[in-house]
Amino acid sequence: MNTVSTVGAVTAPVVREARVALRWGLQHGLPRLAVRRGAREGDLQSLLLANPPTWREPYAFHERVRAAGPLLTGRFTCMSASHEVVREVLGGADFGVGALHDTPLPQLRRLLDWAGRDRPTHPVEPPSMLAVDPPDHTRYRRLVSKVFTARAVQGLRPRVEELAGELLDELAARGPVADVVRDYALRLPVAVIAEVLGVPPEHREEVRAFEAGVAGSLEVAAPWREVRAVDAALRGFDAWIGEHLQRLRRDPGDDLLSRLVTVTDDEGGAQLSDRELRATAGLLLAAGFETTVNLLGSATALLLQHPDQLALVRADPGLWPGVVEESLRLESPVQLTSRRALRTTRAGGCEVRAGARVVLLLGAANRDPGVFTDPTRFDVRRANAREHVAFSAGRHFCLGAALARLEGEVGLRALFGRFPGLALEPGARRTTTRVLRGWRSLPVRLG
Ligand code: HEM
Repeated sequence: MNTVSTVGAVTAPVVREARVALRWGLQHGLPRLAVRRGAREGDLQSLLLANPPTWREPYAFHERVRAAGPLLTGRFTCMSASHEVVREVLGGADFGVGALHDTPLPQLRRLLDWAGRDRPTHPVEPPSMLAVDPPDHTRYRRLVSKVFTARAVQGLRPRVEELAGELLDELAARGPVADVVRDYALRLPVAVIAEVLGVPPEHREEVRAFEAGVAGSLEVAAPWREVRAVDAALRGFDAWIGEHLQRLRRDPGDDLLSRLVTVTDDEGGAQLSDRELRATAGLLLAAGFETTVNLLGSATALLLQHPDQLALVRADPGLWPGVVEESLRLESPVQLTSRRALRTTRAGGCEVRAGARVVLLLGAANRDPGVFTDPTRFDVRRANAREHVAFSAGRHFCLGAALARLEGEVGLRALFGRFPGLALEPGARRTTTRVLRGWRSLPVRLG
């Protein structure tokens, strides 16, 4: 008896590890080999996947894609830097998100199914709303939108102001030199998401630790070490959020997650299942955290690098929303997304075969000279900055856009209001991920 249960206890982690390894091999290892070869042969798409310096400074690469035409057909996928094509694909009925492991090969699908068993819920894999098409997407989005209303978000404003004030008090105590990313930009969104998810303050750091591991979950062709770390972080989060949801069911607060636990669909009367709720909470955390950190970090750096623009905002505080939009446009926190053609169709005047994936360079579309005059200039008064696609477009348009805008405006205004002499110090470091762009470290003198 004992032997059997011991064997069971020992085998389970071994099988789990084998599944993670197989998933890595199929989803990351093989693509890594293929893109390295493609990059050596000059394939632009492979260059984007294989070359970390391109992720740190993607704009020269974007211009090469733009110069190749509205839709570039690469070795593995199509790719576009055009604002018009990006909007066309994101809004088009012929395109869906398509699961990453969609494959027409039955053997490969069986392997992927086995490797995917007992995996923790993942922010960008089904049943996450970001990774499903209608009708599932319609149902999830309708339910989540019922609690994530414009009114509920505006109701968070006083609390966001209060949280920003508390964090700035702590920052002032650290002065005269601090890291505005580590000590402020990273801490404000986590505190806000903790409010949304009903997480008590003593668990905030735990949530931040999970999130730090989850940021890599958006990468493809990632190294083994990273994929393992992401899997461990997701497993930890899954267990924690399961317990947290039980707590909220027993003792609901007035946070949005407590409301989501009980909200039902008028049309079907159904609620989100436990797994769907865990996926939604994970998505809110993953989608709403590092993106907002990057917005705060990039906008701070842009303002400090452009004193003339900062002076304009100081003279007219009504320009703060313009700072947020222009920063989202010029340094898009989410640099790219992708869609799969559901049937053979056309985009940017070119044929796209059924099943083909189209990579949409949001950061490049936001610098499209056909839409934005003098696109590389930081101009807080730009009249059409809000036409950016930093929050995507179509049915997956960012559900947290209003909250992100609120956090950006309140967070920046509070920071520059408290420290009028804020100045950059040497030692700034960029993030090193391909999808998310921002600053990992931004030392400043508080003044
Ligand atoms: C500056 C901050 C943010 C940026 C740049 C951003 C960007 C994006 C983008 C580009 C997408 C769509 C991706 C695609 O089409 O494939 C998205 C979706 C989403 N975002 Fe955000 N986001 C931000 C903040 C937030 C916040 C604060 C939350 C919530 C707390 C949030 C929740 C979501 C959700 C739930 C989705 C999925 C919507 C759907 O699939 O229907 N985001 N976001």
